[in-house]
Amino acid sequence: SFPYVYLFEHFWCPSPLIRERNIFQKHFQAKQSDVLVTSFPKSGTTWLKALTFAIVNHKNFSKENHPLLTSNPHQLVPPLYTFRGNIHDQILQLSYMPEPRLFGTHIPFPSLPRSILESHCRIIYICRNPFDTFISSWAFFNKIKVEHLPTLTKEEAFEMFCNGVIEFGPWWSHILGYWNESVARPNTVLFLKYEDLKEDVNFQVKRVAEFLGCPFTEEEESNGVIESIAKLCSFEEMKDMEVNKSGTINFEIKRFENKLFFRKAETGDWVNHFSPSMVEKLSKIIEEKFSGSGLSFKMHY
Ligand code: A3P
Repeated sequence: SFPYVYLFEHFWCPSPLIRERNIFQKHFQAKQSDVLVTSFPKSGTTWLKALTFAIVNHKNFSKENHPLLTSNPHQLVPPLYTFRGNIHDQILQLSYMPEPRLFGTHIPFPSLPRSILESHCRIIYICRNPFDTFISSWAFFNKIKVEHLPTLTKEEAFEMFCNGVIEFGPWWSHILGYWNESVARPNTVLFLKYEDLKEDVNFQVKRVAEFLGCPFTEEEESNGVIESIAKLCSFEEMKDMEVNKSGTINFEIKRFENKLFFRKAETGDWVNHFSPSMVEKLSKIIEEKFSGSGLSFKMHY
């Protein structure tokens, strides 16, 4: 068996991604109008992709013909690196996408293609508290089978999470990389929290629209456009859509069943899975890594 993740440019990169990432670094041409949806895995990527797509296209579709009813958000906002055929063809295909092009990636900020960093295109990051992120990712990895990878117990997976050894980890550097960038240039990097979206999604939808330069008109607001976007992208609606119950998606690493991206969608589910010593250990890491950053996490409703 071969190592599944390699330490590459200071993060644990899934091995199949290294080559693609290097080709993109060299050949991908960002456009100023591009929008990048970024996250550490299991932080609410699927939700943010759905919302971003719906916000950007709010004038283009009605409730009846909306692409989100028949396509998984990862199809509408594809990962930058998708493994579909020849990588150079893929880059060519990307150049024909309608603008603004929407992409997703879990790559940490400093390792994004240079062209993206230089173009100052807009980046939206979604962050989730590390307790729920760990449980969500442990549940996810229990359901998928990755070739050559042994199944880990919760304790083993937790140990690795705490050491930062997880795809795209360490998670603290991932979060802080985007956080610091959002503080330094708030006009091009927007930092969102999963818990804030859970608390008041309408407010966050408005915020994203303003950030992307496509704010809602007063008329749209009074016609309930924001509420209908929030409803269309809600966990309850999305998990019951046929496409999300039965389809599959080619993701950065492999093909996944769409339904795996919809589990419980709760804040604070970790209390059902953490022992007191796990709570103590993770709290200490958060304290160490994030003190002085100005960033805090919401662990409960
Ligand atoms: P749980 O495992 O805690 O249920 P990602 O999209 O980054 O892979 O994150 C997946 C997490 O987001 C899962 O969390 C999933 O249930 C939750 N999720 C998926 N779609 C959502 C939606 N529309 N609204 C809220 N949460 C959602």
